[in-house]
Amino acid sequence: LSTTEVDISGIVEGQAITVTWQGKPVFVRHRTALEIAEAQAVDPATLRDPQTDGERVQNAPWLVMIGICTHLGCIPLGQKTGDPKGDFDGWFCPCHGSHYDSSGRARKGPAPLNMAIPPYTFRDDTTLRIG
Ligand code: FES
Repeated sequence: LSTTEVDISGIVEGQAITVTWQGKPVFVRHRTALEIAEAQAVDPATLRDPQTDGERVQNAPWLVMIGICTHLGCIPLGQKTGDPKGDFDGWFCPCHGSHYDSSGRARKGPAPLNMAIPPYTFRDDTTLRIG
């Protein structure tokens, strides 16, 4: 299937799920107010792959991102309760120690780029279509 539809109504704030789109893991995270504030406060000029949070999300509470580390392709931790989230409240890749922030941007470690954003749209308040 070239598109994947996801019912996001059950994903509470602070929770994240992983869905598969075109064979790839896609992280859907319902960010907390703190995670949003942290992501928006970053000066993109300080980043190795400069992007504002607003360039990465359509709707601030929802981060939709391909969950593949841009170093060598491992799947970062940070989706499940209790997972290490790294130093920036986002994700941590255990393969070689890359840290990503709550916008999925590469902040520390060998990852050269931010995690990628797939094409997606919100069909309505509770339905996300990826692809
Ligand atoms: Fe993630 Fe190397 S694959 S840090």
